[in-house]
Amino acid sequence: MLTGPKQLLSSMIQTVLNPLRKIGTGLTYYMGDSGKIIRDGEKFMFTELADRAVASQQGHSSTYLGLPFLSLYHFHIFTGENFVKEAVSYGEYSEKFPGKFDAKARSLFDPVKEFLGDPAIVNMNGKEVKAERFGIKNNLSQARAVSAAANVFDRMLSNWAEEKSLNHIICYACTQIIAKAWYNLDEVPEELIPLLKTAEYYVFNRDKVSDQDFENLRQQIKDLNDRVISEQEENIRKGESYLTYLQEARGKKRLADLNALAGLVVEGNITTVVTGALLQIATNQELQNRLREEIKSINFDIGSPEGYQKLKELPLLHQVYLETLRYYSPSPPMARYASKAGTINGVHIPARSYLFIPLRRVMHDPKQWSHPEIFDPSRHEAGSRRLNEFPLTPFSTGPRVCPASFGFAEAMFKIAIAKIIMNNELTLTSHADIETIPVETKEPRFKQTYFVKLNNLAQKAESQAEVDLTPTQVLRMRGATSYSPNTSSSSTLENNTKIGPTQQQKQAYRV
Ligand code: HEM
Repeated sequence: MLTGPKQLLSSMIQTVLNPLRKIGTGLTYYMGDSGKIIRDGEKFMFTELADRAVASQQGHSSTYLGLPFLSLYHFHIFTGENFVKEAVSYGEYSEKFPGKFDAKARSLFDPVKEFLGDPAIVNMNGKEVKAERFGIKNNLSQARAVSAAANVFDRMLSNWAEEKSLNHIICYACTQIIAKAWYNLDEVPEELIPLLKTAEYYVFNRDKVSDQDFENLRQQIKDLNDRVISEQEENIRKGESYLTYLQEARGKKRLADLNALAGLVVEGNITTVVTGALLQIATNQELQNRLREEIKSINFDIGSPEGYQKLKELPLLHQVYLETLRYYSPSPPMARYASKAGTINGVHIPARSYLFIPLRRVMHDPKQWSHPEIFDPSRHEAGSRRLNEFPLTPFSTGPRVCPASFGFAEAMFKIAIAKIIMNNELTLTSHADIETIPVETKEPRFKQTYFVKLNNLAQKAESQAEVDLTPTQVLRMRGATSYSPNTSSSSTLENNTKIGPTQQQKQAYRV
């Protein structure tokens, strides 16, 4: 409720002074178009206003903050094809249309710069973007992801003896893969993982976190960074990496002067997607069996370039990849700021407009997908929807599309699934159901912790075979030096496991 003109005025002044921080603080807003009084601006934006965009024919809705005769800020939500395509590249520098450039278009990403201590690609919006993206793409190759992922998962599987938190192991694995493939960093301490999770929350919710807490966390990661980088510096320099590229590009004296470990906060999206796929697989035996059969049919080392090429082309695994990206679409809504007036798909965008493209809404828009609430890999069988083209845009689209979408993320995903289920049965032990991540959320992340068990199928088959064998056969199989041949059965071990034991044999062994 609006309590008085003084409060409204003070809230407006604060909003003018610091617009980004005021979105979502719970202050009382007066939205001009409907005269509606809003308490939670952020919720209004990502639910009600986004609902309106999805329900509209064109996929666009807008409103403004202020009074009908004094609008301070404008808000636009885009979910329709032509709007999304233009909105994601709003204000980008282009030699062809220099008038469209808006130096402040990416100012909503300021918390990333504050957290890293340096500007990152997401903060850049001028001529430098091209070179920076080139440097990133060069160091996010499919080949590096394949070899790093195969190594990390081999190590992980050899240590996987008991029930584990799926969220944690996948996050740690993804962080290590990115660290190796992107930075040539061999080892990331496990204590970094909870810090990265908090960091992601802080960056998404900068307005809800005190400056002191933000700085403390930043410093904690920086201290860890300085230790890890100085320990591994010699090794890092042995190979080409984004880290050495960055050192030169940012003019830093030492590698440790960059907060490289903080940059690993990018793991959140791929961690969510791999975790989501494994949860679906763990709770759907039929899907798990079909996938395993398909993966085993390759008969190649999937960590080798040839093996991965074959893995990459498996149809069911690819459908699961696309459907997981759609269903779990892990990015927060894309956000841009228009400091000056412009147009998007013919719609006037006044100065001081916040533009939001909720990709997750697009991926769950019933106009684009039948029964979007169902995880159904078969919807991609026809192959008519191409990744990075509307509506299949979990990595966005256009000039700022995710640089990991050209093979890097796919390799991480496919190697992870293949390595985990190829020789093992994955079971969810902690929950009967998987939570549904709301479509309208600003943070598409799992809130619950899931525990899983991994049973090696060869060992399982072996112990099953032992259960099914006569005592003599078990002794023989285990290489016992003396045994009395069982004269009642002349069948070989092979035959016996194939045709199955008699009831009598089972009883004899169990007693
Ligand atoms: C399934 C996994 C992933 C998804 C769905 C995803 C999604 C996205 C999206 C939607 C953007 C566009 C942001 C914008 O325009 O505002 C983006 C940008 C970016 N992503 Fe990803 N991402 C994933 C994995 C990764 C990984 C593994 C890395 C690095 C190792 C990465 C690095 C980046 C970078 C550096 C940008 C900024 C590009 C720019 O501003 O030009 N992403 N990502």
